[in-house]
Amino acid sequence: MPGKNATETLLADAEGIRRAAAILAAGGLVAMPTETVYGLAARADSAEAVAKIYEAKGRPSFNPLIVHVRDETHAQEFSTWPNGAQVAVMTEWPGPLTLVVPKRPDAKLAGAVTAGLETVALRCPSHPVMQALLHEVDFPLAAPSANRSGFISPTTAQHVLASLDGRIDLVLDAGPTNAGIESTILAIRDDGKWQELRPGPVDLDRLHEHYFDLPMPQPPGGEVIEAPGQLASHYAPGKPVRLNAILADADEFHIGFGVVDGDTTLSATGDLFQAAANLYDCLHQAAASAESRIAVAPVPNQGVGKAINDRLRRAAA
Ligand code: TXA
Ligand code: MG
Repeated sequence: MPGKNATETLLADAEGIRRAAAILAAGGLVAMPTETVYGLAARADSAEAVAKIYEAKGRPSFNPLIVHVRDETHAQEFSTWPNGAQVAVMTEWPGPLTLVVPKRPDAKLAGAVTAGLETVALRCPSHPVMQALLHEVDFPLAAPSANRSGFISPTTAQHVLASLDGRIDLVLDAGPTNAGIESTILAIRDDGKWQELRPGPVDLDRLHEHYFDLPMPQPPGGEVIEAPGQLASHYAPGKPVRLNAILADADEFHIGFGVVDGDTTLSATGDLFQAAANLYDCLHQAAASAESRIAVAPVPNQGVGKAINDRLRRAAA
């Protein structure tokens, strides 16, 4: 039970993966790497197992979870693709793109996974450990980021333990994740129209223009409450955060980028992919530092920079 027993940590080798699969089959909780952030997985077909995710994270139960699948065939057990989904899947799966699509009425998923919605979020991760695990079990995995609800997402096993030690059964350690920020979430409507619910490593503007020769339809503005993980208070490091800071005050831990050095840097060379990979680790360092506030250098708002700025705005909210 969360809060009672110590959390086991294992290397994500063949033996670790077999142990993780056994714990998951028995309805337990396992944190493991994906190419974006570490996820906290439970079998998605068991109401009891899924309830443990909400309990361990302290997550509001209206916030639905992403269902992780092995491949496209597996995904189609839970949804019938609307028009326009095929293009995204062919181009980006396996990889950091989550599709929100109509849920099949006969989908074998615990109700809490979709929080009563008629849609389901499906993701086919490319990380070899997550892929190996999905091939070892015969059920899909519900997995949010492996952190207490509202806090910074984890990109290492140590980050996971810092907020969930004693609350989950096992952490599979495979070192730092490489994309560093959560998957792009794309809703595909019945009429085939695309809508970005969360920016992430996959640049949908580019993908959409490439296939449809049209700009992506933009949401009317403001919060897309449909994906509650998008609420402003998410990713909070527990200290005030100031953005676009070229210089920092004495009581600020400064996160740099490019020519702005800082106490630590997202990327000294100004590489946006490296910045995404380092973002949460920099925020974890800033949260643990002696300074009472955090300042972050400007990050260009292009490509994956849009997703970085999205997370930074939420950290500062
Ligand atoms: O990269 C990722 O996506 C990571 C790794 C572990 O796969 N997972 C992740 O999960 O970021 P989580 O739970 O932190 O974020 C899931 C987001 C939430 O904002 C949730 O509201 C949204 O997906 N979501 C899930 N199902 C949805 C649905 N049917 N309609 C709209 N939004 C949905
Ligand atoms: Mg999260």
